[in-house]
Amino acid sequence: MTLKEQVEKRRTFAIISHPDAGKTTITEQLLLFSGAIREAGTVKAKGKKSNKFAKSDWMEIEKQRGISVTSSVMQVDYDGCQVNILDTPGHEDFSEDTYRTLMAVDAAVMVVDTGKGIEPQTKKLFEVCSMRGIPIFTFMNKLDRDGREPLELIAELEEVLGIDAYPMNWPMGMGRNLIGLYDLYNQRVELKGHDEEDDVLYIPLDEEGQAEGDHSFKQSTIYSQALEDAQLLNEAGNDFDRDQVLAGKLTPVFFGSALTGFGVQTFFDAFIDLAPSPSVTETIDDQLVEPTQSQFTGFIFKIQANMNPAHRDRIAFVRVCSGAFEKGMNVTLGRTGKTIRMAHTTQFMADSREEVQEAVAGDIIGLYDTGNFQIGDTIYSGNKAVQFKALPQFTPELFMKVTPRNVMKQKSFHKGIEQLVQEGAIQLYKTYHTEEYIIGAVGALQFEVFQYRLLNEYNAEVDMTPMGSKIARWIDPKDLNPNMSSSRNLLAKDRFGNPVFLFENTFAENWFRDKYPDIELKQLL
Ligand code: G4P
Repeated sequence: MTLKEQVEKRRTFAIISHPDAGKTTITEQLLLFSGAIREAGTVKAKGKKSNKFAKSDWMEIEKQRGISVTSSVMQVDYDGCQVNILDTPGHEDFSEDTYRTLMAVDAAVMVVDTGKGIEPQTKKLFEVCSMRGIPIFTFMNKLDRDGREPLELIAELEEVLGIDAYPMNWPMGMGRNLIGLYDLYNQRVELKGHDEEDDVLYIPLDEEGQAEGDHSFKQSTIYSQALEDAQLLNEAGNDFDRDQVLAGKLTPVFFGSALTGFGVQTFFDAFIDLAPSPSVTETIDDQLVEPTQSQFTGFIFKIQANMNPAHRDRIAFVRVCSGAFEKGMNVTLGRTGKTIRMAHTTQFMADSREEVQEAVAGDIIGLYDTGNFQIGDTIYSGNKAVQFKALPQFTPELFMKVTPRNVMKQKSFHKGIEQLVQEGAIQLYKTYHTEEYIIGAVGALQFEVFQYRLLNEYNAEVDMTPMGSKIARWIDPKDLNPNMSSSRNLLAKDRFGNPVFLFENTFAENWFRDKYPDIELKQLL
């Protein structure tokens, strides 16, 4: 197979959702369809296990398992394609890594609970995907339960997320009354079996949009209601336009039930058809690197530390952007100019980690790292230097003050913080005048990992004082004046020395905006 053919078969995506919407369950269905696992419950058992433990136990689990990367990236075959699924940790382990993972995918699947609609975490993750302009495929899950009205869900999706939606199929009933899906995309009715073991039946639509042949369901009000809705959508809804989908402006919406598997295969089939294969990556000087060019390039989007103190190694996750990786090849790390031999690499399968033999654009490989890499680093083969655009930083929402417990250990405290900040594990701020250390995170677990690693890797014990959640907004340094500090905000500086206000709440932020209408308050992503 040529490189081009191989790249065209790649589908690299992440599933975004609010916790409990069904991300794990649908991932498991994909693994089942692809033959990567044989039994339902495999992925879930793992997920459940770690959810059940208290947060502090998480580190112990990591320690026992070594580097837990098996669920971070999974590569499976589906319908002749190599599918790479990148995990976006939710629940308590939501962190900046969750966002950064979205920088390494070509598409996203958004799972929505039909009983709940668009929830906060989905919205945040959606915004990051939307900023990148990647296609987003929506799966409205839990159709086997009574949820909200489909038309209402579509309207909410469009309104809250500001994206057009195109229903690819439409539920015929819901909960116990669910009889099937009226499938506009495939022009058929997908009829649910009586119980989970029964096969679904596909009935083509005739020219009037009616299911062909004589079927008792055609007399039901559920069917006529679905037809009516579909007609309404046809007349008043958006048109399907693949270019709009690829530009991230129109989300195809599918209904189904991850738990029973109903509608899931239809969804994945369409996803594989419509989702893009790896595309170009932009360099810092606005050049576009084609995925099919022969030079190997990639960037690091995540670094995962080994929680076992006996093994200081880490794994750097590389998104391959072009060319083909071969075991043992030499690459240059752009930032330092250092040559690195890629001898110890790993690739991620559904059930195990294996040595990578070959990987092409779109694939994710793990490099054993002894401290060479930083998040956002570009690596490339050959002599032509390549530097991809920097990864964005994300606005933290939770803050803590930190001080070393033992003043004699100041040096290791500073070294530890510096390295963990570089690695992207945490963001560092200081109070503007008194230079007290403040760390910022998007998820609470980042703090625990920070504290644990400072102690275990740098032998520095710290005291941490929670400051709670804050709204961080940057201002231009030239606009800063001493009167701007008040009891409603805290003036800090980021690690580059830029002034940033930490507001207690939106009230405090709005108060500031009213008082200083000419000052622009900026946020990271
Ligand atoms: P997550 O990874 O997005 O956090 O969600 P996960 O798949 O773990 O699903 C969260 C809960 O929702 C689970 O129930 C799961 O069984 C249920 N669920 C997922 N998809 C569907 C669906 O299509 N229909 C219904 N009815 N439920 C669904 P749980 O009670 O937390 O776990 P369990 O006790 O059922 O194992």
